Amino acid sequence: MNIASLPNAQAVVVHDEMEQLGAAVAQRVAELASQAIAARGTFHVALAGGETPRRCYEKLRHLPVDWAHVQVYFGDERCLPAGDAQRNDHMAYGALLGQVAIPSTNIHAIPSELGASAAAARYATLLQQVAPLDLALLGMGEDGHTASLFPGNPALSDQALAVPVFNAPKPPAERVSLSLTALNAARQKIFLVAGAGKRDALEQILRGEPLPAARIASAEWHLDRAAWPGSLR
Ligand code: 6PG
Repeated sequence: MNIASLPNAQAVVVHDEMEQLGAAVAQRVAELASQAIAARGTFHVALAGGETPRRCYEKLRHLPVDWAHVQVYFGDERCLPAGDAQRNDHMAYGALLGQVAIPSTNIHAIPSELGASAAAARYATLLQQVAPLDLALLGMGEDGHTASLFPGNPALSDQALAVPVFNAPKPPAERVSLSLTALNAARQKIFLVAGAGKRDALEQILRGEPLPAARIASAEWHLDRAAWPGSLR
């Protein structure tokens, strides 16, 4: 199968290692930030959770970015108490946000401690004021989920910008996610996908399976060799 023909992909890049993948995407984020700030004065970015994005954030914190003009959102959040070490915002703070000169008022955490429904409603109201995002960074799970949009979950067809998620197969079961509508509206979408565990989902997407990640249109896909050991052509 030819990974370059990944449905809906704007571009596919296979990096040797997760480390290079992280560095390359960090560079892309810094470029997109500088272009958005030059064009519109602000860069609105949604961060992803997961180990692959974390590597990217650890690189990004060393790059020159005008953080005072960056507004940070989250693609999804686990319904856990504020400050819980398992929350995606906790990871992002440790790897990036706590290490750079970004005003705390520019960081828009999902208030998932309120419960999925209340938090999603509040976050949707916030997103209505900023949409579209300039960039959505996205991971992909082994089952093809992205953000907290899992295969077969009713949240996939919820049209609100931020949606409550129940019965997620990956704990915790209760989450909040940006919807397909909000993610697809972003000016740029970038997937970071590393590790052999992702091969099966990539193959399914190539075969045309409508997994959640496949429903993000015109994304840039950054993979590592472990995720896609085949050739690009
Ligand atoms: C979560 C994570 C999760 C993650 C993917 C990919 O809230 O459970 O954010 O959705 O993004 O599972 O993660 P890796 O990059 O670690 O494979």
